[in-house]
Amino acid sequence: MSDLERSLAGDVCGKRLLHLPCHLGVDALSWAQLGATTTGLDFSQNALDVASDLTEELGLSANWVCADVCQIPASLESAFDIVVVSHGSVAWVKDIQAWIEGMARSLVPGGRLIIVDEHPLSISLETEELERGVLRISSPLMGGARIEQIARGSYADRQQNTNHNRRVGWCHGLAELFGAMTVANLRVEHFGEHSWCEWQKSPNMIETSGGYVLPVPWSDSIPLTFSMMAKRLPFVPTQR
Ligand SMILES: C[S@@+](CC[C@H](N)C(=O)[O-])C[C@H]1O[C@@H](n2cnc3c(N)ncnc32)[C@H](O)[C@@H]1O
Repeated sequence: MSDLERSLAGDVCGKRLLHLPCHLGVDALSWAQLGATTTGLDFSQNALDVASDLTEELGLSANWVCADVCQIPASLESAFDIVVVSHGSVAWVKDIQAWIEGMARSLVPGGRLIIVDEHPLSISLETEELERGVLRISSPLMGGARIEQIARGSYADRQQNTNHNRRVGWCHGLAELFGAMTVANLRVEHFGEHSWCEWQKSPNMIETSGGYVLPVPWSDSIPLTFSMMAKRLPFVPTQR
């Protein structure tokens, strides 16, 4: 997890925390190590099996739930003080409204939703020609547009031979997120834009102590990550 997520969450010791989507559970288990009673949710049972093995190996305790982030089980309603979403999540989800409302319902009133993820501008940037000083917008910046790519490997290992190589994602603008939070009765208390990204999107990006940044002249002028924290107000719309 990033220092930013940690500082937004504050002291999590004894807090009930939901991390989603959690993939192999590495971030979720880091919250457990900080003393949170942690639940990780993902729709990949294979990923959750690895998370479960890691939990045992590290002598930690965590709950793993296999579900779609847009259909968080009713048993998790009002069950958490904090819900955390980290890098590599928003662009995977088609129905932002259903997702945000589900997360709002899983919080206790006064509970906080924290999202730290890739900025829509960064998702839209074409970085292939960075070394020639060219930076282009290659996909829509908003509107939930569907992006399809054929690419081998995965973000965990670019060189890996994979059989299923069609990738689908969605371009959600920040207004969609803010709008969904408003409808879900979440009050945004923090919003930030940051010039670093957690991973090296292009070999020409430069590693710094906080992550990877674009080369000059863009190094501190283009947001690659955004952060949001919102508080659940007492009333949340019922499940659609
Ligand atoms: C890039 S990873 C997220 C990494 C995460 N930030 C972490 O801590 O490891 C994306 C994950 O989203 C999961 N995912 C994508 N769409 C989902 C959905 N609709 N419901 C549940 N999980 C989903 C995938 O299975 C994958 O594990």
